[in-house]
Amino acid sequence: MRKPLIVGNWKMNNSVAESVSLVDKLKVLAKDVAGVEIVVAPPFTALFSTRDVIKGSNIKLGAQNIFWEDRGAYTGEISPLMIADIGCEYVIIGHSERREYFKESDEIVNKKIKSTIRNKLKAVMCVGESLKDREEGRTMQVIESQMRKGLEGISNSELQTPNSEFQLVIAYEPVWAIGTGRNATQSQANDVHIYIRKLLLQILGEYAASVTRVIYGGSVKPSNSAELMSEKEIDGVLIGGASLDADSFVQIIRSACMV
Ligand code: PGA
Repeated sequence: MRKPLIVGNWKMNNSVAESVSLVDKLKVLAKDVAGVEIVVAPPFTALFSTRDVIKGSNIKLGAQNIFWEDRGAYTGEISPLMIADIGCEYVIIGHSERREYFKESDEIVNKKIKSTIRNKLKAVMCVGESLKDREEGRTMQVIESQMRKGLEGISNSELQTPNSEFQLVIAYEPVWAIGTGRNATQSQANDVHIYIRKLLLQILGEYAASVTRVIYGGSVKPSNSAELMSEKEIDGVLIGGASLDADSFVQIIRSACMV
């Protein structure tokens, strides 16, 4: 049984004060939640203060991106070492907004996954097809290519933290569903999740295929989260817009407790 994972991706939103106030509220609302892993991914500028607020709570910290080198002359970048140092456990890699606006290729995603793993952080690797891909029947082909290239050269044995936790999570996020209010249906999402698990088996082997959580993202809200997570292959959700409101985020977290 894989523990459900709920990740709130705040994207480029919230000042330090707004971040502290959001997570303060969230901490109180979610304090009795058990059996579900909760992660918030604030912007870099709010990681430090958010970390202080969630200390001792059931909420974990994630970053939205990293650079792949540990240190050096890379003006404007943030390394996995710095992210680990600030108390992050998770890093979102290859979000479609980064692939689209910052031209992150599968090769870059692969370098970032490797550096995340090397630094004993957990990677949430995002994959997903565009509307054009889906309409032209290329969804599985696109997912397969992103999975194989993103995980190239990574072996099952590298993916364990010293305390035996698995370091890889896959987020299936159809690009056409992100921020559009139009989520994938249960069965559309589930079909891709089944395929992703089959690919994990081929790429990383049996153990990874059984423990890697495959979560869904794209217009998840309190009204559709329970339905999505009732699918056996949907191990949690990655939430953008609805994670900016503590009440909505907690309702989604609670829907994971019911499945
Ligand atoms: P959304 O974003 O929930 O606002 O659609 C999801 C994501 O980008 O991870």
